[in-house]
Amino acid sequence: MLKNIAIYPGTFDPITHGHLDIITRASKLYTHLIVGVAQSARKTPALPFATRLQLVEIVSADFATVTVLPLEGLLIEFARHHQAKVILRSFRAVSDFDYELQLAAMNQQMAPEIETLFLAPAPEYAFISATMIREIMSLGGDISAFVPEKVAEALKKL
Ligand code: COA
Repeated sequence: MLKNIAIYPGTFDPITHGHLDIITRASKLYTHLIVGVAQSARKTPALPFATRLQLVEIVSADFATVTVLPLEGLLIEFARHHQAKVILRSFRAVSDFDYELQLAAMNQQMAPEIETLFLAPAPEYAFISATMIREIMSLGGDISAFVPEKVAEALKKL
């Protein structure tokens, strides 16, 4: 069978219902989906890299065709290395659009052979913001409505 590999990259700080929805839907579109968890030092993530990676692994364990890997270096080199022709992204609102357009355009300039495709968020998750989840966590609030159950459980134990 022809391999049809896509990369879904992100910081996943933490992985949310919105991210899981994209993973679930993308896993049905590609023979293999690689979720790349980026260090994203520029964003100074709230959760350590190892924790973010572990949470994405916990959530993705149910999918036979999904692999979770650390994303080090340039995204396009990561995609090339794994022979992926597609980078998947999603955006929730106009506020995300400029950033996503820049990311897609710059990646396209550097690697014209790789396409960035966007999946619309499921309407019920389009309001979820990882930034606000981090704020709720830092103030000791309950984030269980916004993240997969296994993630909420793992975060409680931290
Ligand atoms: N549902 C819910 N939330 C969604 C969503 C959806 N369908 N789609 C996007 N989001 C949200 C995320 O929750 C997150 O919210 P926040 O801004 O409140 O934290 C935001 O959109 C994006 O975060 P995330 O999905 O984790 O990705 P990112 O923007 O942090 O990822 C990389 C950026 C990793 C793709 C980028 O930095 C990268 O490519 N790094 C590698 C280095 C590189 O190649 N750099 C050069 C690029 S030109």
